[in-house]
Amino acid sequence: MDLGISGQTALVLGGTQGLGLACARSLAEAGVKLLVNGRSAAAWEAARGSLPGATFMQGDLAKPEDRLRIIDSAQSLGPVSILVTNAGGPPTGEFLDFDDAAWQQALNANMLAPLALMRAVLPGMCERGWGRIVNITSSSVKAPIPSLHLSSGARAGLTGVVAGVAREVAGRGVTINNLLPGAFATDRLLHAFAPRAAKAGVSVEEMTRQRSAAIPAGRFGDAAEFGATCAFLCSAQAGYITGQNVLIDGGAYPGVF
Ligand SMILES: NC(=O)c1ccc[n+]([C@@H]2O[C@H](COP(=O)([O-])OP(=O)(O)OC[C@H]3O[C@@H](n4cnc5c(N)ncnc54)[C@H](OP(=O)(O)O)[C@@H]3O)[C@@H](O)[C@H]2O)c1
Repeated sequence: MDLGISGQTALVLGGTQGLGLACARSLAEAGVKLLVNGRSAAAWEAARGSLPGATFMQGDLAKPEDRLRIIDSAQSLGPVSILVTNAGGPPTGEFLDFDDAAWQQALNANMLAPLALMRAVLPGMCERGWGRIVNITSSSVKAPIPSLHLSSGARAGLTGVVAGVAREVAGRGVTINNLLPGAFATDRLLHAFAPRAAKAGVSVEEMTRQRSAAIPAGRFGDAAEFGATCAFLCSAQAGYITGQNVLIDGGAYPGVF
């Protein structure tokens, strides 16, 4: 299927590994010119082979000064017509474990950073009459997950703002949607299992088996499935989909809405 976005320019934040990288790859397959962000040059070196022609924008999205630098360098290369926001999730833990500083950090990386990037690209998108924004959030927005309080809080804030802004810019050819991953077999997820498996007294393999079995699809998601959905939301054909929270979780969330 021709997604009708060949030649557009996308800025993919947190795009050197996992779900962000999968989004970048699917956009590259659709002929999109890519600007890819991440903190680690080593991760970029590992990823760049699958993203020919992409430009790396190194920087930490949790740092306002890095955000400004990334925005400036991206816009100096031409108009950004597709924005995918992503960063690593905040730490897990009990509610009582986290003080104000921990909350500030989570809000900064997972709410303020995507909002800052949206503010930077939206005026140009509206002026040109076309744009696509996809924020990678989490299934925890639909149903809070134990130990993911920082993630639930920061992402709920972002989700609330997107619900309003998406409607404000819908008439200008710009769509904004959130993609909510359930369990995807990325390095991040598999690493997160190690301490949980130790706490439960089972091996990581056993915990992986149990977690997969609890998902109606009977497996974790493949990042390529996530990337393909992201590219579709960025497509010409998806111009009437906006302000949505698209859950990709193999049926794990049991609710009707
Ligand atoms: N995988 C899942 O099952 C799952 C489920 C629910 C929600 N999520 C959420 O989806 C997002 C992506 O998950 P993932 O599994 O793909 O994670 P991942 O494999 O750890 O990849 C995260 C990407 O973001 C970059 N990154 C992290 N922090 C950054 C920062 N402060 N500034 C710039 N780049 C940053 C990482 O590169 P560097 O480390 O080099 O910066 C990497 O490219 C996370 O927010 C996660 O919480 C994932």
